Amino acid sequence: MADGKVHIFDTTLRDGEQVPGCKLNANEKLELALQLEELGVDIIEAGFPISSPGDFKSVEEISKVIKEATVCGLSRAVEKDIEAAGEALKYAKRPRIHTGIGTSDLHIKAKFNATQDEILERAIQAVKWARKYTSDIEFYAEDAGRTENGYLARVVEAVIKAGATVVNIPDTTGYCLPHQYGEKIAYLVNNVPNIDKAIISCHCHNDLGLATANSIAGVIAGARQVECTINGLGERAGNTSLEEVVMVIKQHSYMGFHTNVKTQMLNPMSRLVSDTMRMPVQPNKAIVGSNAFSHSSGIHQDGFLKDSQTYEIITPEEVGADSSKIVLTARSGRSALAYRFRKLGFEYTRNDIDVLYNEFLKVADRNKEVGDEDLAAIAKAYQPTVLVA
Ligand code: KIV
Ligand code: ZN
Repeated sequence: MADGKVHIFDTTLRDGEQVPGCKLNANEKLELALQLEELGVDIIEAGFPISSPGDFKSVEEISKVIKEATVCGLSRAVEKDIEAAGEALKYAKRPRIHTGIGTSDLHIKAKFNATQDEILERAIQAVKWARKYTSDIEFYAEDAGRTENGYLARVVEAVIKAGATVVNIPDTTGYCLPHQYGEKIAYLVNNVPNIDKAIISCHCHNDLGLATANSIAGVIAGARQVECTINGLGERAGNTSLEEVVMVIKQHSYMGFHTNVKTQMLNPMSRLVSDTMRMPVQPNKAIVGSNAFSHSSGIHQDGFLKDSQTYEIITPEEVGADSSKIVLTARSGRSALAYRFRKLGFEYTRNDIDVLYNEFLKVADRNKEVGDEDLAAIAKAYQPTVLVA
């Protein structure tokens, strides 16, 4: 695989917006799309045009304003869906139609009551319909994670032959383990004769908390597009989180992969999406959680204050987060306490800190977290050997 560029396909406005309570109006979608372009994503999946007149309009409006990124519309392998996607994308500089169908035995039987051969024909037909509107066609093999590899390879070969330029291999139910998903991508790389004519895309859901790991396994095996959302929003337990994938690729740059994303925008983007979609981010969320750069245990704080790299592999500046925090709790140590006093202008000797530490622990056991006001009160009540105040 020659190029190490990993295309970032953002589906916050489509898969992310499917989440109950996350519904966005047209203006909100437009504003987020503009910010996603600014962030540096390569493809914006703007919506599912056939799903509602509102979504059709949003995809159309987004298509008019996005200059650099590809704008993508979702459809089923159904002619009227593809027609709606093609129409909604008609103003886009770089339009992409994303069409596809379920390929696992379960989907073929339970959803379509069809045979593998019938599904294969419908897949080919969908790509041919899409070609009337654009040459950039992405095909998704829904539930590829549970699709037998031999059949999946047949479908992928056939849709590429019909004109698909990107083949999306979704782990729709978040079922796969990273090595299984990686092997699936490697199987396609090695067994689909025309695979060099398309980009393989990873679309992983997070039902077992493995979406990021699976996507990275897919990239290592040969995929060059990752479908993801800001804050990992998406159906059920969500999609692959954009910020995690981008930072894994950046942190492990020796693997030879890179993205176009401006990492300093990750935290502002996360906040914007969280506020607009009214979906709070869990504090311990990687990269963008409020605790991602907080240190609260004594051992960690002591190491961090000696050299931040002992407990931080990313700097907050690199991802646009507020500076690292030393949080004082009953688990904190003396060096953290001295550091926080110093920040407030109180310089104490080691002996002073020993005494003050006991006072601090009493407050910490009562309050969980000890803030600046508590520290100031402790300092005020302690007179004897203050050097500087
Ligand atoms: O999870 C999935 O399979 C999807 C497809 C529609 C791409 O979201
Ligand atoms: Zn999905």
